[in-house]
Amino acid sequence: MSRRLLITGGAGFIGSNFVHHWCQNYPQDRVVVLDALTYAGNRNNLATLEDKENFRFVQGDICERPLVDELLAEVNIDIIAHFAAESHVDRSILGPSAFVQTNVIGTLNLLEAFRSHWKNNSYPDDYRFLHVSTDEVYGSLEPQDPGFSETTPYAPNSPYSASKAGSDHLVRAYFHTYSLPTIITNCSNNYGPYQFPEKLIPLMCINTLMGKQLPVYGDGKNVRDWLYVGDHCTALDAVLNRGIAGETYNIGGNNEVENISLVKMLCELMDELATDLPVRPSSELITYVKDRLGHDRRYAINSTKIQNQLGWSPSVTVEQGLRLTVAWYLSHQDWWQPLLSPEYQAYYSQVYTQSAS
Ligand code: NAD
Ligand code: DAU
Repeated sequence: MSRRLLITGGAGFIGSNFVHHWCQNYPQDRVVVLDALTYAGNRNNLATLEDKENFRFVQGDICERPLVDELLAEVNIDIIAHFAAESHVDRSILGPSAFVQTNVIGTLNLLEAFRSHWKNNSYPDDYRFLHVSTDEVYGSLEPQDPGFSETTPYAPNSPYSASKAGSDHLVRAYFHTYSLPTIITNCSNNYGPYQFPEKLIPLMCINTLMGKQLPVYGDGKNVRDWLYVGDHCTALDAVLNRGIAGETYNIGGNNEVENISLVKMLCELMDELATDLPVRPSSELITYVKDRLGHDRRYAINSTKIQNQLGWSPSVTVEQGLRLTVAWYLSHQDWWQPLLSPEYQAYYSQVYTQSAS
């Protein structure tokens, strides 16, 4: 049976990895990507799919209701996989409005469009609205606290996580109020190919290659649970194929690492794999800078539910995943060089000049 998916944000980091995953594993399905191509969207991520018959790219904003209505009707969509978002915490601290607009209003717009499409078409059981969210909605953990589970109360601390929490609540409400078959996933920190240079891992790889300082916020002891993006895609695949409408699934990597340890691991990999580094050992570039405002101390995910109910577990360790990722950034300079645009440089100086200690 072939399905018709609308994938929002499919030109971004996780979205594009997921589009490749889906098109490879379910070539009979029709995939339409809707992406506004903000600074974080990159159509080149999908270049190898552009000539496929079952694939279509549409540049557009999820907040544009007539466009969304038109796509849902024209392609007769039965699954929305919703990745589109403003996703970077530091940018949300500089300017929260875009986060509320896309993450809250945009999600509401998609829910409303899908609700009227659903009512008009009385879809079968496998009709889905998959909302891809984050572990940051649960707030920050103390060192001894257990990982976030699906019943952990929401306590978002940044404008980014507050906007994602708002969208999660709307998605939940559409299931309870209108029986719209929604599913929410809350995932930990992803890394891997096609991640925009502003995020910790690509930023450290690229700065090392350029001989620039490696800015570690605060004391470097904040902890994140790292998940290789390919494992996130297999988790979302399991959720779409076997997940229950109305449920939430937490997705994590079982890879809790302090930032400073992660950066040191990256430096060692760069020293080993990069032939031509301006500064060696690259750990000499590590510089502690002023902390991020409201910086969450620790995230950790309890993935027991998705493991037990859907049979998913991560397959890539942080050591394996970092090696793959460093190798990818080393061999794809043509992908990330153009992203270091004047706009990106302006953003970079804003964040890192303010945070110089
Ligand atoms: P990203 O910033 O790399 O990509 C976001 C994509 O959304 C871009 O292609 C951008 O052009 C598009 N977009 C933004 N605003 C839009 C709009 N108004 N209309 C249409 N498209 C728009 O983000 P990512 O890291 O790939 O994250 C994808 C999703 O996963 C987000 O919802 C994020 O909250 C969630 N998430 C991310 C992580 C992570 O570690 N990166 C972890 C958990 C959850
Ligand atoms: O937990 C899931 C979240 O992970 C997602 O919802 C977000 O979309 C995604 O951006 C990510 O958020 P983080 O803020 O955790 O990721 P980031 O890569 O920005 O930072 C990771 C950690 O590294 C965090 O503790 C801040 C720190 N950091 C980050 C940067 C960019 C530094 O020390 N220096 C830096 O230059």
